[in-house]
Parts: sequence; C-alpha cells; structure tokens
Amino acid sequence: MADSPLLWWRRQGLRFRLTMAAAAVLALALALSASVLLSVLDRALMDTVDESVGQQAQAVRVAADAGTLTSPITTHDGTVVQVIDAQGRITHVTYGADRLVPLLDARARAKVLRDGRATQLDGRPYALPGFLRVVVLSADRGQTVVAARPINEIRTSLGTAGRVLLVGTPALVVLLAVASWIMIGRTLHPIAALRKGAADITHTARSRRLPVPQSRDEVHSLATTLNGMLARLEEAEQRQRALVSDAAHELRSPLASIRLQLEVALGHPEGQDWQETAEGVLEDAMRLSRLAEDLLALARLDERGGVPARNEPVDLDEVVRQIADRYGEARLTVCDPVVVRGDALDLNRVLTNLMDNAVRHTTSKVEVALTADGVLTVTDDGPGIPEQDRERVFNRFTRLDSGRSRDEGGAGLGLAIVRETVRAHGGTVALEDASPGLRVVVRLPVSR
Ligand SMILES: Nc1ncnc2c1ncn2[C@@H]1O[C@H](COP(=O)(O)OP(=O)(O)O)[C@@H](O)[C@H]1O
Ligand SMILES: [Mg+2]
Repeated sequence: MADSPLLWWRRQGLRFRLTMAAAAVLALALALSASVLLSVLDRALMDTVDESVGQQAQAVRVAADAGTLTSPITTHDGTVVQVIDAQGRITHVTYGADRLVPLLDARARAKVLRDGRATQLDGRPYALPGFLRVVVLSADRGQTVVAARPINEIRTSLGTAGRVLLVGTPALVVLLAVASWIMIGRTLHPIAALRKGAADITHTARSRRLPVPQSRDEVHSLATTLNGMLARLEEAEQRQRALVSDAAHELRSPLASIRLQLEVALGHPEGQDWQETAEGVLEDAMRLSRLAEDLLALARLDERGGVPARNEPVDLDEVVRQIADRYGEARLTVCDPVVVRGDALDLNRVLTNLMDNAVRHTTSKVEVALTADGVLTVTDDGPGIPEQDRERVFNRFTRLDSGRSRDEGGAGLGLAIVRETVRAHGGTVALEDASPGLRVVVRLPVSR
C-alpha cells in the first residue's frame, strides 16, 4: 500500500528533512531571483537600444526637415534607417538598406507613431539578422523616418546569462544541500551520543553520566541538565538504599533480643520466670513498633514532598497543653490562642518527640513555652548537645553516643521527623544551649 507523501515525509530522519527543506527553499529563492534578474536585464538593455535608435531617428528627422539628407544616410552604430515620403515611397536609406520595401507598412507605422514606443520586428524577411527594435518618427511634408537596430547580440548575451544561471543555480543548490547535510550531521552527532549514553545507563551499573559535548550550545545545556537530573536521581536512590539498610540494622537488634530471650526460656524451661521473659519481649516489641511508626511517618513526609497532610487551623496552645499534661513534670507557659495552619496529628508528633527527648535527658525539670507569635520552646537541664552536633542530630538514624547507651532511646529518627514536619508547615527548628541543658526552638507561622 502506498503511503501518503506527508506520512512518508514525517517518517524521514531529521537530517534528511532539514537538508531537503533548506535545499527547496534555496532553489525556489534562486529560481525567483534568476528570473527577476533576467527580465530586469532584458528590459534595461532594450531601453538602452530604444533610446539610441530613437536618437538616430531624431537626427535623421532633423536633417529631413532641413532638407539636408544625404544618400545614403550615414549612421555610426549600424542603425538601419528608411525615410518614406507622403506617397509611401522610400526616398533615402542607410547603406545596404532595402530601397523598395518599407520595414513597416503604412498601418504598422501609424500604430507605432500612435503608441510612441519602439516595436519589435523579425528582420529576416528584410535580409537583416535576427530581431530588430524599430522606432518611427514623422517629419515635415508627410515624411516618415523608420529606424531599426538588430538586437541579436543582446539576445545572445541574455541567452548566455540564462544558460549560466540554469547550470549555476542547481549546482549552488546541490552545494548547499551537501553542506547542510554535513553540518546537520555534525550537529546531530552529540544527540546521537546522548541517546547512546542514555541507552548504556539502563544496561550498566549506576553512577553513569551522559557525554557532554564540547560546544556550548543547546545540546550542551541539555546534557548538563540531564546529568544534573541523573545526579539527583542517583542521590535519591542512594538515600533510599541507606534508609533501607539503616532500618534493617535497627530491626535486627530488637529481633535478636526477642529471639535470644525466647531461646533461653525454651532451652531451660525449669525455673523460668515467664513473667520476666514476657516483659522483656514486650519491651522489644514496643521498640519495634515505635520504629515502624517512625519509618511510616517519614515515608509519608517524603511522599507528600514538603506539604502537610492537611491544611486546617490547629489550636497549637491546645496541643501543647494536652501533651504537657501527659508529661507530669513539665512546667508550662502557654499563651492563648495560637492558631497555625496544618495537621494537628503531625504537630502532635513534633511535640511528643521533643518532650520524649527532653524528659529522657533532663536531670530535674522540663519547661515548655509557647508565645503568641508561634515560637514554641522545649527546654531541659540535661547534658545538652555540643555545638558541632547540633546540625547532625537532625539526620535520620543519628544518635549521639550518650543517647545510644540509654535504653529508652529511639532509633534516631525523632528529630528528623520534627524538622521535616516543621518545614512542611513552613517553620524552622533550632537547637540552642540552655546552659545547662538544651533548648529546642520551633518557629511556626501563625495564622490570624
Ligand atoms: N534534649 C536533649 N538533650 C541532649 N541530647 C539530646 C536531646 N534530644 C536529642 N538529643 C540527642 O540527639 C539524638 C537524636 O535525637 P532523636 O532524633 O530524637 O533520636 P532518638 O531520640 O531516637 O535517639 C539523640 O540520640 C540524643 O543523643
Ligand atoms: Mg527522640
């Protein structure tokens, strides 16, 4: 089945199509300019001839009017002149011109006179070579001057010019097509390299980059942009892998502990305190479930990509009061009402994590304060966090050594969840020295 030409065209490669389009446009432009050039040249040359023939005719008329015509009439540029009297007889001619038959009969002469423009005539019947430009002027006493000049030389030069253009134009088009073919090939080559690089990436190991061409062009910026994207994807993938391995690592110790306790208990059932075993296993199970919950919270934060799950008005002062109630020893300074937009459950988790940490590390008291402009501080008088660790502790699975030794400590996800949640709510978290102890300052945008 024959395809439609349009379909065929669309299926051709970019290189072929660009080359063909460029060649077609050039061919059209050249053909147009060649034809315009030839016609303008023709017009200009004819005008020149007409003018000079006209001048010769004028000179002869002046002589005829004055009655000073010589026989034969002399002209110096090969113009053929006939002077015809009122009766239609040829009275004077230039040397070699026909004395019996006028170049134009009476009717044609009258028409040329009326038009006032030169006319064209085939000279061969009058034994003159090729075509002639003929001018007619009327003189006194009913005389008419007919002057003619062969234009075969002009015709020949125009023909030569035409032939040169006829050969030169296609040659130029072919030259351009070849040049475009090569240049477009060169331009497309880096794209082919990009494509090949991209194909290789899927086949081979990670940490691959696309080839960046030397030239500072669009393909260069495309390659660098794509490489940036690959780097980000690789980074995300690495983060994901690290998270999985950290999580697996964290799961291992409570699971090993459960297994050990059960193995010991089952291995020596006599005199076994099952109550104690069950308590130990329960504690490990709680650790596991806390870890699972924290991982889930982080996964949700990642999924939403930096926006809270809900965007509702939340009474922050109410949230703070409820949580502080749960931790009996906390001293509260709460301003009300403080309303922020976001997710009450998420904000609840932020405060819970901070209170857990504070209660775990403090020696005597924990202070919680909330101001009207949305600044929430949780202060304890424990060991604090040294300056150089204050950024690091926000990373996932980061525990400081003192924390690791404590049994109650979590997996090091608490502060990570705090920071990511607060950021999603458009706020910031900072750790400050409360000397002694640590002050966590959470700033949330208040909605009024
Ligand atoms: N109030 C605090 N005082 C001293 N150190 C703290 C305090 N809060 C957190 N830290 C340190 O920061 C680390 C990370 O805290 P967090 O992300 O909540 O993890 P986790 O509580 O699971 O250990 C903790 O291991 C602890 O060493
Ligand atoms: Mg914690």
